[in-house]
Amino acid sequence: MIKPRILLTRKLHDFALAELKKRYDVFVHSGKIPMPKDELMRRIKNADGLVCFPYDIIDSEVIKNAKSLKVISTYSVGYDHIDVRSAKQCGIKIGYTPEVLTNATADLTIALILDLMRKVTHGDRLIRAGRWSVIFGAYDYVGADLEGKTLGIFGMGRIGRAVAKRACPFEMKIIYNSRNRLPLGLEKKLHAKHVSFDGLIRDSDILSIHAPHGKETDKLINLGIFRKMKRTAFLINTARGKIVNEKDLVTALKKNLIAGAGLDVFEKEPIGKLHPLTRMENVVLAPHIGSSTAETRREMAEITVQNLIFGLEKKKMVYSV
Ligand code: DGY
Repeated sequence: MIKPRILLTRKLHDFALAELKKRYDVFVHSGKIPMPKDELMRRIKNADGLVCFPYDIIDSEVIKNAKSLKVISTYSVGYDHIDVRSAKQCGIKIGYTPEVLTNATADLTIALILDLMRKVTHGDRLIRAGRWSVIFGAYDYVGADLEGKTLGIFGMGRIGRAVAKRACPFEMKIIYNSRNRLPLGLEKKLHAKHVSFDGLIRDSDILSIHAPHGKETDKLINLGIFRKMKRTAFLINTARGKIVNEKDLVTALKKNLIAGAGLDVFEKEPIGKLHPLTRMENVVLAPHIGSSTAETRREMAEITVQNLIFGLEKKKMVYSV
């Protein structure tokens, strides 16, 4: 019997690969990352299943070329890299990995907030550069308290809620704007107040983005928005880089329209060391590590494999788009 053919655009955990190899004819791309489009187009032609990553662009051209494709299983919660409409039109199922990465991403969000507000990375850079010359001055290396500050959450889905939960013990005020308002009971539990988008932008001391990227949110946070934010406010983005107009962010930081930014995601990743953001003191940068804990990445791999297997066996996927 001919085994279904599976294309992985990159290696997954060994246990995940072993699981796939038991059942399928597996090809794992091992060259340049992301897999070059011409290679992807060639390899996907006969594939029954695809395992991809958030940087793989699975557009309509790729999908139309995939004559036998039945399932796309992405190793990510975000699926803005997949042309969902084209996939659906071709009867292709899409699996993704929400929930398991909620806590890890929320933890990183808090880490970025703490880092920015207490200047941890800033201090680390200073020490390593041999620039720590005096100690304990009245105005030296002073950050800001979290207590009493207003945390504005844009997008109150799973991750937004997990961030709110973590912010409560710091005694921050929590406001949020989201497509769907939370049930009152949950708002009360999280001490979170629903506000308009304008209110969120105006009142946040820390604006943290937790919405998906799409037409509505593309470059939503731009110069016009930065001008409306408090000059003392920080922007945190652990969602998708394309939600922020990066050029405008650089301008806003240079002109002190906002106080700083903590970023795990960028318009185009990876960013190089010459990117203007790397030269700014009031910025903390992370290399897209929201879900990057050993436990979470393992769970993501398990779900990615299960989604693929269930999808090919015409069973209900663990999480489907
Ligand atoms: C995802 O899974 O989409 C996240 O970006 C990972 O951090």
